[in-house]
Amino acid sequence: MRFHNKTVVVTGAASGIGRATALLFAAEGAKVYAADIDEAGLAQTAAESNGEVHTVRCDVCKCEDIKALMDRAAAETGGIDAVFNNAGAGGDMAKIDEIEPEGWDRTMHLLLRSVAFGIRYAVPHMIGRKGAAIVNTSSVAAVGPGYSPNAYAVAKAGVLHLTKTSAADLARHQIRVNAVQPGFINTNIFTTSLDVPKELEEQAKGAILMMSTAAQPVARAGQPNDIGEAVLYLCSEAASFVNGTSIIVDGGLTIGPRHSWDPEVPDLFEALRQMKAAAEAQAS
Ligand SMILES: NC(=O)c1ccc[n+]([C@@H]2O[C@H](COP(=O)([O-])OP(=O)(O)OC[C@H]3O[C@@H](n4cnc5c(N)ncnc54)[C@H](O)[C@@H]3O)[C@@H](O)[C@H]2O)c1
Repeated sequence: MRFHNKTVVVTGAASGIGRATALLFAAEGAKVYAADIDEAGLAQTAAESNGEVHTVRCDVCKCEDIKALMDRAAAETGGIDAVFNNAGAGGDMAKIDEIEPEGWDRTMHLLLRSVAFGIRYAVPHMIGRKGAAIVNTSSVAAVGPGYSPNAYAVAKAGVLHLTKTSAADLARHQIRVNAVQPGFINTNIFTTSLDVPKELEEQAKGAILMMSTAAQPVARAGQPNDIGEAVLYLCSEAASFVNGTSIIVDGGLTIGPRHSWDPEVPDLFEALRQMKAAAEAQAS
């Protein structure tokens, strides 16, 4: 019960990583304020909980909604101990030579400005709370290209930098700020972001499961709880010396090129070793 009597706010809590994390926090004693635009999904999160998940409709693209969320959580419980700024979607899919300003701005508002103002409006309610901590959802897309569309990757890299600069700003209040960088996690984000039609959803989910199982050295699909466990650690007393940094939770997806860990993929050095061995065998 690491979060007994603590107030925790989780955005994007109607599905995937946010839902799993909200449920983990509640199971460890927290009073959780679960926020999202998807009210049916929120109701499902609350139904799966132990009764300590309180749902709030909040569009993180609207700063007034974020402020109302934080103010309500604090008014009802006396303050906020932890915030998980996590809501998101795939953002604009266009390449840099095709993207329009509206799509760029929408993506930045959803994935980056939302995190800045999640911090902005939570902090007044976190000052003086012992062990106060914020975690922001970045992504392996912040490592480099190839994991997501352009605008998403840039926003998630921004989240990493915002995490560091905010940890510096909030040192004077002794509030820690960290990020988590999920790899390929089996959630609805891919079907939602690509607007996959209802009738193709199950087929698409099957394909996503297959791809996500084979994408990284750990031979299983990443699950929302894998991220939730890292978030709870970062918000816990055990992480009281961890600040302004990020944990990559990706089963090894980003350790290096695929040939470095997958024996099925041709590796130049292995090929050269074999050529040399064959030449030596022939010479002897
Ligand atoms: N699944 C992955 O592989 C993966 C990888 C890296 C990062 N992430 C990040 O993890 C976070 C959670 O994504 P997920 O995979 O759980 O996806 P998901 O689709 O299962 O959940 C995202 C939730 O965010 C909510 N949301 C979207 N726009 C919102 C808004 N304007 N206001 C409030 N809520 C909103 C959705 O309704 C949904 O419930 C996102 O920030 C995503 O970018 C996911």
